[in-house]
Amino acid sequence: MTTAGATGAFISFEGIDGSGKSTQARALAEGLRAAGHRVTLTREPGGAPGAEEIRRLLVSGAAERWSPETEILLFNAARRDHLERTIRPALGRGEIVITDRFVDSTRVYQGAARADLRALADALHDLVIAVEPDLTFVIDMDPGIALARGLARGTGEDRFEDLGLAFQTRLRAGFRDLAEANPARLRLIDGDRPAAAISAEIIAQTQDWLTRRPAS
Ligand code: TMP
Repeated sequence: MTTAGATGAFISFEGIDGSGKSTQARALAEGLRAAGHRVTLTREPGGAPGAEEIRRLLVSGAAERWSPETEILLFNAARRDHLERTIRPALGRGEIVITDRFVDSTRVYQGAARADLRALADALHDLVIAVEPDLTFVIDMDPGIALARGLARGTGEDRFEDLGLAFQTRLRAGFRDLAEANPARLRLIDGDRPAAAISAEIIAQTQDWLTRRPAS
């Protein structure tokens, strides 16, 4: 199921920590606004006041603070709030919603890289969220470079980065597998290039997709 109304569209960005997807989500929002679209740019975990409170519980503290099962529940609680308060209202107004992470992060982080819990992640998603993005960009890049970049930011939000290079390597493989299994929705983007080259490609692909997509 997709959420797009007659004019709205739901686009997500995914990738490992430090992959530059937040920069790319921002660049796409600016590019689409410049082309005359109304855009809501948001993020997960977070994107609504309650969901941002849940984010604080998830991204800081010791890596083993939560079990993977508890994480899945917390990410879904945050996502439900985000969906109700931010995503659905913006789509209802006919806007393009761009989110920095959505369910594919749960499928890969909790469902594949941190634990083998894909069935639980999918079952819970179907029960409480039941919405897929219309289009997803996966920024694919070298995990060593991405990890160094992520840790250098020193945000204090590095609970997942603290799991190390082996974890980031499993994440990359998980995102690539997901993109291969869902080629109609997920587009793998080479992130080992200058940011401007990546954003130019993403804006062009999105403009093309917006023109060609079937009316809903
Ligand atoms: P961010 O750094 O992209 O804002 O995301 C915060 C962290 O949360 C990041 O390390 C990825 C992780 N995460 C999950 O593990 N599962 C999820 O479902 C989401 C949305 C994020």
